[in-house]
Amino acid sequence: MSDNIAFEKTSYEGQVVIVTGAASGIGKSAAELIASRGAKVVCVDLNQVGVDQTVTSILKLGGNAESAVLDISNQKGITDFISQTVGKDKRIDALINCAGYPGPTGKFVEEINWDDFQKVVAVNLFGAIWLTQSVLPIMKKQKYGRIVQVASIAGKEGNPKMAPYNTAKSGLIGFVKGVAKEVATDGITINALAPAVIATPINVNTAKETLDYMISKIPAGRLGEPSEVAEIIAFMGSKACSFTTGFTFDISGGRATY
Ligand SMILES: NC(=O)c1ccc[n+]([C@@H]2O[C@H](COP(=O)([O-])OP(=O)(O)OC[C@H]3O[C@@H](n4cnc5c(N)ncnc54)[C@H](O)[C@@H]3O)[C@@H](O)[C@H]2O)c1
Repeated sequence: MSDNIAFEKTSYEGQVVIVTGAASGIGKSAAELIASRGAKVVCVDLNQVGVDQTVTSILKLGGNAESAVLDISNQKGITDFISQTVGKDKRIDALINCAGYPGPTGKFVEEINWDDFQKVVAVNLFGAIWLTQSVLPIMKKQKYGRIVQVASIAGKEGNPKMAPYNTAKSGLIGFVKGVAKEVATDGITINALAPAVIATPINVNTAKETLDYMISKIPAGRLGEPSEVAEIIAFMGSKACSFTTGFTFDISGGRATY
């Protein structure tokens, strides 16, 4: 009996879940896992080809998914997309925001071009804020919602020569802490996740010295896998995550034990 109850809480049967960054890496893995647990997943990304491939792989496995092309640094684009989604699907049970990029790496803060700095903050922080602002009224009406913001170990500890990314991800962690308290009696939880280095395409252009530094800090002595991150995201986005909010979950192979 108790096993059935546990299953029920991690199931996404009948739910509509938005996953951003779903074309690749962590977002793709999370979209596939959450679809396998019963959700209709709206897969969002800048990359049309990639996001369509994610949807195809979900449909092939008998899941339910559709794609949407969206740049999350476009506030109006987000508002329009969320109203279209809720117009069609009538509900949004969870927002899983995995879209992001590191921007300049291997550069001292004073060497970073301001446009590049702002762009990193616009995608990794403002996009997360605008998505949250757009889904909260719907979740409040439903009296239910789960928001997962993928931050980074960079936001907890700060990696040298990644100032824009550190700034955006630590801002995201602070954002989640306060908003969680605003919606704590509305049936909504909002949490962040701080991965250390995960084996995804995001690290392809990261300066070698920065990547070596980040890997050397992981006691497990290896990179994380997107499927490992997807498991914790699937918990955070489910009914099972009902009494933890405003928290930043760790997935760092032991780098951050707090
Ligand atoms: N992989 C890591 O080492 C690592 C570590 C810590 C945190 N993260 C975070 O995890 C999240 C997922 O990263 P990943 O490793 O899967 O990388 P990834 O590059 O494989 O996937 C990121 C996806 O986000 C999309 N994206 C980027 N900018 C976007 C925008 N403006 N609008 C819409 N989509 C956009 C990309 O097209 C891509 O498909 C990111 O927020 C990243 O900062 C990754």
